[in-house]
Amino acid sequence: MNSQPNRRLIRSGIIVTPDEIFRGDILIVDESIAHVAPHLDDADARVVDADGYHILPGLIDAHVHLREPGATHKEDFATGTRAALAGGVTTVLDMPNNPQPTTTRDALEEKRALARDKAMCDYGLFIGATAENARLEIGDWGAVGVKLYMGATTGDLLVTEFDALYRHFAARSRLPIVVHAEDNDALKFFANDPTRTRHSARRPPISAALAVSRALALAEETGRQLHIAHLSTAREIELVKAATARGARMTCEATPQHLFLSTDDEERLGAFGVVNPPLRSPDDVHALWQNLQHIDLVATDHAPHTIEEKQSAKPPSGMPGLETMLPLLLTAASEKRLSLQDVARLTSHNPARVFHLARKGEIAAGYDADLTFVRLDEAYVLQKPWQTKCNWSPFEGRRVRGRIARVFLRGQEVMADGEITANAGSGKEIGLTTVSE
Ligand code: NCD
Ligand code: ZN
Repeated sequence: MNSQPNRRLIRSGIIVTPDEIFRGDILIVDESIAHVAPHLDDADARVVDADGYHILPGLIDAHVHLREPGATHKEDFATGTRAALAGGVTTVLDMPNNPQPTTTRDALEEKRALARDKAMCDYGLFIGATAENARLEIGDWGAVGVKLYMGATTGDLLVTEFDALYRHFAARSRLPIVVHAEDNDALKFFANDPTRTRHSARRPPISAALAVSRALALAEETGRQLHIAHLSTAREIELVKAATARGARMTCEATPQHLFLSTDDEERLGAFGVVNPPLRSPDDVHALWQNLQHIDLVATDHAPHTIEEKQSAKPPSGMPGLETMLPLLLTAASEKRLSLQDVARLTSHNPARVFHLARKGEIAAGYDADLTFVRLDEAYVLQKPWQTKCNWSPFEGRRVRGRIARVFLRGQEVMADGEITANAGSGKEIGLTTVSE
């Protein structure tokens, strides 16, 4: 065993934070960033030449479905976290809608043990809200957040009754409640209308607006921290803007599929474009881009299903996203649709703040040395092979600009030029001890 501390000096990278972009050096000691400055010297450190690279804080994807336990033919903690590293993502927050949902202390412990042995990037686990656990102290079990499904989607998780909703929001917990905001009565109504054949028409924007209004009312009444998952429509944005102006304690996220695809892609993609919330109209997509300053974070909702399942008579909803989020955002940055600082804010700084991840989301002394190196000058086509077990992407064939070159996780290089060098189990759980008060 090497007892020397791991000292690395990242030299002459272009460091990207939400506030500034500057050429500088980063000194890593063991797992942490020790120092960041325009020029550093350290005789004992191994030097990593970062000339020509932009360095982002490692991405935090606050919304993934890694499918373990119960659906490991779609993904597991090893393949899902490999996909994360390939995509420049160093922390993932895993959703509870497994076949046996993560809604009890035992189920959370079981998932925790599986992830501990396999995960290659850091991770936090969500606990799922149910009517049954509404009276329990689910916020004390070590999850990073409570996921509450107001509308039915993949899996059986659903909370629609007022008493359970109210109890969850009123519980004394500092964990945010993340809401899948589609109103279930509206979904049932539109799904019964035989003239609505497209997936997007069966889950229209009013379903989202109704659920967001309800969630906001509950959060404002109780003071509970609310995070709205995958916001996708202009109407939701207007609701969120008004709530923020009133001082509501809420944040929201958008996904790459709602920023980079629309109903114009629905026919071409067929079942591979079926996702919840559905792809939205070009006007809705435009509204998301116009209001990016009101969106707190971008998360993938990485929801892999196999090609066979997608080609079946009843295709499940969901699409993978871990490996394509950053190239898509960097491409948009190269087109000046957002800035690189926005990318750092949306994919790392803000997810860490929303989920109270104390040592994540900054390139600054005292933070975990999670770093994603990118080459902005390289253009290429998104294509197979993918690390995700499902091995497809709705973005396959798209030309992008910005290659993910190297990834460091707590000071260790875990990906270089597409090759993943992390070991199974090198990822650590966050949420147990590392969440700030
Ligand atoms: C998700 C899945 O497959 O787990 N599917 C999806 O379309 N987003 C479930 C969900 O988050 O809705
Ligand atoms: Zn999801």
